Amino acid sequence: MQKRRVTFFYRLFGPQNHDVTVGDVVNDYTFWVMVQSSAATASSPDSGSTTDQRLIWINGTLIPQSEAKVSVFDHGFLYGDGVFEGIRIYNGRIFKLRSHLVRLMESAERIHLDPKLSIDEIEDLTRQTVAANNLQDGYIRLILSRGEGTLGLNPFSCPEPGVICIADSIRLYPEEMYRDGMKVIVAERPRIPVECLDPSVKSLNYLNNILAKCEALRQGLYEAIMLNTRGEVAEGTGDNIFVVKDGVISTPAPDAGFLLGITRQFVIDTVAPACNVSVLERTLRLEDLYDADEIFLTGTAAEVIGASKIGDRVIGNGKVGPITQKFTKTFREMVAQNAPED
Ligand SMILES: Cc1ncc(COP(=O)(O)O)c(C=O)c1O
Repeated sequence: MQKRRVTFFYRLFGPQNHDVTVGDVVNDYTFWVMVQSSAATASSPDSGSTTDQRLIWINGTLIPQSEAKVSVFDHGFLYGDGVFEGIRIYNGRIFKLRSHLVRLMESAERIHLDPKLSIDEIEDLTRQTVAANNLQDGYIRLILSRGEGTLGLNPFSCPEPGVICIADSIRLYPEEMYRDGMKVIVAERPRIPVECLDPSVKSLNYLNNILAKCEALRQGLYEAIMLNTRGEVAEGTGDNIFVVKDGVISTPAPDAGFLLGITRQFVIDTVAPACNVSVLERTLRLEDLYDADEIFLTGTAAEVIGASKIGDRVIGNGKVGPITQKFTKTFREMVAQNAPED
């Protein structure tokens, strides 16, 4: 097994070095890292490069990562006032780019943020950023922030929105996790109610998810399932959820309050029919999770991944079930060569 030296930055007493083995999940006080075999040290699967090779799009210009800075007066920074998208590049094609751009524009509109660019212009700058970074496979982070303003909350004090595009590599969960299933928890913290801040707006304010994720991380796990304030299953902190029972596949209906995932929709509209099954949208409760034969999560970063355990409850026979396996495989085949961009 390959050994790596990693630095834990989150300890109470500053950085510390440890020798660990690639593939290990290491608890470090309340935080953790998964040891990576890639060039960068260690991180969660949704983070990317630490090099300065990248060119970042900021407000009309592509500039090196080291110079890519935003103002401390940007309300995206001060208040999480903005919206974003995470998008995958597979074999040179930008998976579901149009759907992501539509969601981005809708999210922006719902927080009264005018990006002052058309959807086609945002598509164009996204493609330019990917091309400038020579990426065939990777991850795009598109951000529309409120922009620079005064210290007060007033969003209308910010005359120019910030438009940022980062195209980077992505590290996935280890393959064993797709084979053996992921262990997750149910977060004690509920998903923020729709009437407070609709989770279908992909806003820059992810604290609700981050705090739920901390609950999982403290237990050495990657993901937490969030219930809404009515006790219904909503979603993971960065994924949507599906359950399989007696061959029937169900996923929460939108009124549970969650992000309408692009991967979720692709699984419902394209992957499931290709596997000759359909997906039911309905109210799911905790008992439906515990009683499921299979559970899988979907998301831009995770793709389609089975969950084998929720807290101390084993799901099904504790292995990744046949429907999940088929969906993961079909999804991967569909995006590998000619990923749909619409
Ligand atoms: C809270 C949340 N739910 C679900 C998802 C999955 O959505 P998508 O498939 O569009 O990545 C994400 C990831 O973007 C997310 O952050």
